[in-house]
Amino acid sequence: MELRKINIQDAHAQWEYTTALPADENGLTNPYHGVTYDEYKKLVLPALISYEHPVNMPEWFVPETYYYLWDEDRLVGEFRIRHRLTEALRNGAGHIGYSIRKGERGKGYGTEGLRRTLQIARSIVPEEEIYLRVNKDNIASQKVMLNNGAYLAGEDEAHFFMRIPKNR
Ligand SMILES: CC(C)(COP(=O)(O)OP(=O)(O)OC[C@H]1O[C@@H](n2cnc3c(N)ncnc32)[C@H](O)[C@@H]1OP(=O)(O)O)[C@@H](O)C(=O)NCCC(=O)NCCS
Repeated sequence: MELRKINIQDAHAQWEYTTALPADENGLTNPYHGVTYDEYKKLVLPALISYEHPVNMPEWFVPETYYYLWDEDRLVGEFRIRHRLTEALRNGAGHIGYSIRKGERGKGYGTEGLRRTLQIARSIVPEEEIYLRVNKDNIASQKVMLNNGAYLAGEDEAHFFMRIPKNR
């Protein structure tokens, strides 16, 4: 397995994943659902790559890096790291968002992908803990977090706020 940063060579597999990913699934949003390959190559991919070192982006925008989990030649999931917290992220989506391809769920990819993403996030994120948010009815994602050492740090009506100490 490999967690590979978004790149131009993998454009077709990344597009195929992105265009199929729902616009909003359990709070994981994707504005590019249904995008054509042409639009992806010309507009979406350059934008997503640039988010790691944003230029001309609004003040609130935090650098964000996209990674894809590969099992041999199959792209099985996406993991996004937001490099630091703002007030909105602290009380919202946190540092990491992820999804696994529908036909590949329940095989351990979510757990292993988050494990690998955390290894990278530990060296990027300045905060002492990695912040995550999950819908209360999303049992699979809660397990993915718990499998990676998360603890319950708070909740609101619809979400649990989970954290993973960086030095665990
Ligand atoms: C959440 C998600 C990433 C989990 O990925 P996954 O590859 O299925 O996760 P794993 O295979 O590592 O499974 C983790 C645990 O959840 C369990 N699980 C998987 N699907 C489940 C389901 N539908 N209901 C209940 N438990 C489930 C697994 O059995 C496993 O349990 P275990 O740790 O006791 O063995 C995937 O379901 C997904 O992409 N969902 C849509 C997007 C999303 O919700 N993203 C997260 C937002 S916070």
